[in-house]
Amino acid sequence: MSVRLLAFAASTRKSSVNRRLITRLAHLAGESDAEITLLDLNDFPMPLYDGDSEETSGRPASADQLQSLFASHQGLLLATPEYNGFFSPLLKNTFDWLSRPAKDGQSGMDPLRGMPVGIVSAAPGAFGGMRALPFVRLYLNNLGMMVAPQQIAVSRAGSAFREDGSLDDEGQDHALASIARQVIELARLRSV
Ligand SMILES: Cc1cc2nc3c(=O)[nH]c(=O)nc-3n(C[C@H](O)[C@H](O)[C@H](O)COP(=O)(O)O)c2cc1C
Repeated sequence: MSVRLLAFAASTRKSSVNRRLITRLAHLAGESDAEITLLDLNDFPMPLYDGDSEETSGRPASADQLQSLFASHQGLLLATPEYNGFFSPLLKNTFDWLSRPAKDGQSGMDPLRGMPVGIVSAAPGAFGGMRALPFVRLYLNNLGMMVAPQQIAVSRAGSAFREDGSLDDEGQDHALASIARQVIELARLRSV
């Protein structure tokens, strides 16, 4: 049974290495019998979360649009940059808004709860963002999401990709494929 997965990088930078990584992960998941919707968070702009603005204007329309995509997919692939050992503020802000109720009162948490997620990171440095990943895992667990056990951090990301988009390090490329399979498997279990 084919499952539908969302995929995005928590970076809006034009030449984001995490976008390159999520594109590869999405491609590998597509080869493993999943339908992939690859998103760019530039298309879902949201202001920095503010309780007063939520009270006067409600959840932004972009968060509603993204939330309805979560509701129509069974899993998520996510690549995050590392900033000072933590994940990107864009990731936190996006999910904080998603977790809030919609204007019609519908729960923001419901579409997230139980959703399987594969997490990866890329950075130009030697550690590839590996310090951020445990915090991503913890944060998404707090939202009720099911983070797949395997994760990878791609170091020296500026030179880590081949022209065809695959990772030069074959072991890491295989690990990416394995993360894709884990998420697909969890998504299948969730949909039965
Ligand atoms: C404020 C800030 C803090 C950063 N901290 C880290 C860090 O802790 N570890 C790391 O590997 N790279 C760090 N970097 C470098 C980012 O990994 C690099 O900018 C990367 O390209 C961001 O991901 P992107 O290309 O997907 O946007 C930092 C960059 C910024 C702007």
